Amino acid sequence: MTNSSTKKRVLSGMRSTGKLHLGNYVGALQNWVRMQDEYDCFFFIADWHALTTDYADTSRLKENSIEVLLDWLAAGLDPEKCVMFIQSHVPEHAELHLLFSMITPLGWLERVPTYKEQKENIKGKDLDTYGFLGYPVLQSADILIYKANVVPVGEDQVAHVELTREIARRFNLFYRPFSAKTKSGKVSEIVVDNPVFPEPQALLTPAPRLPGTDGRKMSKSYDNAIMLTDPEPVVRQKLKTMVTDPARIRRTDRGNPDVCPVGDLHKIFSSRETMAKVNEGCRSAGIGCIECKSWVADALVQILNPMQERRKKYEDSRSDVWDILNKGSARAREIAGATMDEVRDSMGLNYGGLNHGAAKDSTK
Ligand code: TRP
Ligand code: SF4
Repeated sequence: MTNSSTKKRVLSGMRSTGKLHLGNYVGALQNWVRMQDEYDCFFFIADWHALTTDYADTSRLKENSIEVLLDWLAAGLDPEKCVMFIQSHVPEHAELHLLFSMITPLGWLERVPTYKEQKENIKGKDLDTYGFLGYPVLQSADILIYKANVVPVGEDQVAHVELTREIARRFNLFYRPFSAKTKSGKVSEIVVDNPVFPEPQALLTPAPRLPGTDGRKMSKSYDNAIMLTDPEPVVRQKLKTMVTDPARIRRTDRGNPDVCPVGDLHKIFSSRETMAKVNEGCRSAGIGCIECKSWVADALVQILNPMQERRKKYEDSRSDVWDILNKGSARAREIAGATMDEVRDSMGLNYGGLNHGAAKDSTK
């Protein structure tokens, strides 16, 4: 791990939903891979967050978490450059979540846009649960326990980072670092510019909207996704069935790449030269859609091939994968544990000096 003290800390997570698709890559993962060289990065698999909606059947939880991690490694996240771990392996997140739940007004949570949206959109599951309402409180704990400065997220998550800032502010208002209290001895003299939690910034991932094969936003739940693990023939087959400019019915009809989902993929993945050929050929009916789609497939295969090769290496040695996770979780617990010591101190929860660290030591 490189010098972490001078670098800003980045934290982000993904729910453990199983294998990832191209939309996940373009919308998040690709950006994470770029960030790991520049920042002190922590990336984790939010398996507890997955439970907020998928609590009834947990049979795939473990496998789904591993699939996500394999895709991260395949995409180029490097355990030498960033810390990767699983949320539930760092139980300190749960303790901080509990403490945050004490100071979070219900109204803040009911006002989070994703709360109402998801409750309306996710059918067939009872989401009138304590855990689902508290989803962003847990996310705040995820972020603040590492004192992250930067949180790269998609647009839908910005409100959660905003809530995190509000929770940090409220915590800092109520509780002061222990050292600040002892220095002066008097509460009134406490310096306010040394709070326990910094306020994190959301970093919006500049992601183009990636259409799936049916033209809607690529999403696992729409069954329109190209998976990072799809082998070449599957990619080509999926492309063949992809919808095109609806005005281009016959080969002789002129089309418009600007209103065609395949054109959108070209814009994201194809070279300038290919893009020029598509623009010219489509508008003049000089090329057919089948040919045009095969060029997108070529570009995708070029991106996916090296990923799939890397993935295979890790799939063949699962013990290495667990090793990466265990090391990552151990590193995460170090930091999370130190933050929790500060939190307990500042909240007056370190009765008789017996904090968790001391309790652990006494069992040695
Ligand atoms: N809620 C995020 C999502 O659905 C996942 C997540 C959980 C997360 N905890 C986080 C993202 C902390 C950033 C920081 O995508
Ligand atoms: Fe779409 Fe390409 Fe067909 Fe034009 S030629 S309509 S861009 S698939």
